[in-house]
Formats: sequence, structure tokens, C-alpha cells
Amino acid sequence: MEQYAIKGGNPLVGEVEIGGAKNAALPILAASVMTDETVYIENVPDVRDTNVLLSAMQSIGVMVKRNERHKIALNASNISNLIVDDDNIKKIRASYYLIGALLGKYKHAEVALPGGCDIGCRAIDQHIKGFKALGAEVRIEHGLIKTKAERLVGSHIYMDVVSVGATINIMMAATMAEGTTIIENSAKEPHVVDLANFLNSMGANIKGAGTDIIRVKGVSKLHSTDYAIIPDQIEAGTFMFAAAITKGDVTVKNVIPKHLESITAKLLEIGCEVEEADDCIRVVASKPLQHTHVKTLPYPGFPTDMQPQIAVALALSKGTSIVTESIFENRFKYVDELIRMGANIKVEGNTAIIDGVDKYTGASISAPDLRAGAALVMAALAAEGYTMVDDIKYIERGYEDFHLKLHSLGAQIELVESERDFQRFKLKTG
Ligand code: UD1
Repeated sequence: MEQYAIKGGNPLVGEVEIGGAKNAALPILAASVMTDETVYIENVPDVRDTNVLLSAMQSIGVMVKRNERHKIALNASNISNLIVDDDNIKKIRASYYLIGALLGKYKHAEVALPGGCDIGCRAIDQHIKGFKALGAEVRIEHGLIKTKAERLVGSHIYMDVVSVGATINIMMAATMAEGTTIIENSAKEPHVVDLANFLNSMGANIKGAGTDIIRVKGVSKLHSTDYAIIPDQIEAGTFMFAAAITKGDVTVKNVIPKHLESITAKLLEIGCEVEEADDCIRVVASKPLQHTHVKTLPYPGFPTDMQPQIAVALALSKGTSIVTESIFENRFKYVDELIRMGANIKVEGNTAIIDGVDKYTGASISAPDLRAGAALVMAALAAEGYTMVDDIKYIERGYEDFHLKLHSLGAQIELVESERDFQRFKLKTG
């Protein structure tokens, strides 16, 4: 099994190109089954989650052609099966986007219940509520969500919680319903807007994405499109915090600075310098980091997917910081690993109280989930000595070429497969 061998201590310096947003790519790929015409999608990140979704789509008859590493053509005119029960699909959260997409187009879908990162109870009641409001029958049987409708009819749906997944799923199904659907208290994340733009480019009629009321006027048919996915807000934020944590100087390129405002604000608060240009942001950490407080919130608040990364920075900052996780209840699992590297953190319920320390020291650690895994790698890059990071399969779910990008910024990091490889790495870097 592959692991990362890391020797800490080098500040990260240089420029890094940010890829397409995983969380936009997943619903956009799924939504491409909603037309019989060929859809061309650019800037698709080559990460495990998108590849698992693509292979599940192939298993039901979608033709997938990767023209270049990040450019994919999809044609769903020969779908042979509306049951998606591929073994791998259970491992990713976004499998459920195929329900909204297939239900919208075919009025029938059966998809294995979603998995994804173990960061708390990830209910799907709001998705089900939305499908039912549109007139679908929904049952959960034998590990599958089964949905069927004679016809889908537009409806007024008030979401009890702000949910990215439910907003996206309802928006997809409503796109091909009869009449108008109003989704109130919808999620406003950039990837929700990106999916709406993608569907509109295929002939859908969606207004208000990016606000908390989305209006979808159903259409009977969608057509071909050529669409480029937005840059990944979380990948960009991760590298921005990597600059802070390693006391470096990193420019993230191909980003939309507006999507990164809450992240930029916190970097300024803890004492980094941040320079913005049209499509890049430079983060310089030349002074000691200062403590702050942060609470995760739906967009435009500070993203829960950046919570472990900011905590790793705060644990190296002067003073006491408080991190409150308000989206997922089980998102502090990395704290034990960080404590083993020397951090001083106490978790009480959904709050972490962090007393800054001067340094981390390398240790043998495991990535508990995707974002926490990336954050622990960053801690290792700042740590004194060597770290071995296990379970990097989680990190590979959402970061393309993570270690290569870090290496290009001056990190001493290598993919290894055994203790012997690790010893060789130590000799080489010692
Ligand atoms: C998506 C992202 C994930 C991110 C999260 C919050 C993808 C593939 N994943 O996950 O990276 O951390 O948004 O920005 O895009 N909830 C319910 N009932 C539901 C649905 C959600 O109670 O039917 C709750 C969840 O338990 C959670 C909160 O709503 O507490 C937010 O979840 P949601 O926005 O749906 O997250 P995901 O779409 O799963």
C-alpha cells in the first residue's frame, strides 16, 4: 500500500496550478446523462472520486472518452440500465447525483446508497423530501435508493438544512420536471452555481443559483454543450494554508479569488500577507502566525472542507484559538494524529481549543479522511524530522498529483510502498 514519506522543514515556495473543482465535476459528470447528445467537459480533475463515478456511468452504458487528461466527452444515448450498483460506487458520496440526473431524464433510478468520507452522519432526508415533492416514489431497499415517477411536477420545496448535495440533486431532477420548482434555503456554494451554469448551457432554465432561492423552469429536452469546470476552491485553499503552515511563499494560479474570500480573510487575520490578481493569489508567511477563532459555515462562510487545514496552522500559532465545526459532527478525527506530532488541542463536542506550540515533530500517522489527510501532510511538511503518512488513498480521492505539486514547491515528499523505500528516502534526504 502506498504511503507518503516526508521530511519536514522546507518552506514551500513557488507557483502551483489549481485543477478543476472535484465537487463541481461530480454533479456535472452525472448531469451529462440528461441528454442523448455528446457533452464535452474540460478541466475535469483526474482524481479517484471522478474516476469512480465515470466507471459507474460506463457500467450503465454511458460512453466515456478521455480526449486529454482533463477533457472528457460523454454520450448517454445508449444507457442500458437505470440500476447503478457497482461495488466502487458505494465508496463515494457523489454516487447519489446519478439519482437526480437519471430520475430527471428517465423518471426512474436505483442507485447504491452513498459512502464518502466518514466525517459524521450524512443524512439524505432532504434529497428524499425533494424527490417526493416533485412526485417521485422513493424507497430504500437492499442498500439501494429506488426512485420512480409517472411524471415529475414542479413544486415549492423548503430545505430544512442548507445542503449542497440535496440542492444539486433536486435542481437536476427539477430541470426536466413539468412546470416550475422553487428551492428555498438552497446551498450557495460555487459548485452549485457551476452545475446550474452547466445545465443552462444544455438548455435548462435555472435562475438564482448562488442565492438562497433557486427557480427551475422544467424543460423537456437538453442538448450538447462544451463546458469548462471552475477551479477547485478547496485545493487552492489547501495550498494557501500550506504556505502559512510551512512559513513559505506560494502563488496559487488559475483560481477565482472571489471563491476564496473567507480563506483569504483568515490568512490575513493570522498574520500572512495575501496578494490577489485576476486569477491568482500569492500567500507569504514571513511573520510568526497569530491565533484566531473560526466557525465553519455554508458558503460564503468558512468551508468545513478547510477546517483541518486551518487547525493545523492555528496549532502552530501564538496564543489560544477556537475552531467550531458546525456542519459535520465527526470532523476532528485527525486531532489525535496531530497531538502525536506535538500539537496541544482539546476537543469538546464540536469545538477544538488549540494552544499554539512552536513546532511539530515527525511521526507515523494515518489520514483519517480526504481533507484531514491533506492537512496532516502539511503538518508533516512543517515538522522537524520524518513522517510516514498512511491511508493516502483518502487524499487521492480529491487531490490530483498532490505529492508532485508539493514537491514542485520544494517539499521533500515521496510516494513509497514499504519500510525499505522509507529507509531509502531517509538516506537520500538525510
Ligand atoms: C458536500 C461536499 C463536501 C462538503 C459539504 C459541505 C461533495 C461531493 N461533497 O457534501 O465536501 O464538506 O458539501 O460543504 O460536494 N444534511 C441533512 N440531510 C440531508 C443532507 C444533508 O441533514 O439530506 C446535513 C448533513 O448531515 C450535514 C449538512 O446537512 O450536516 C451539510 O451537508 P451537505 O451540504 O449535504 O454535504 P454533502 O453534499 O454531503
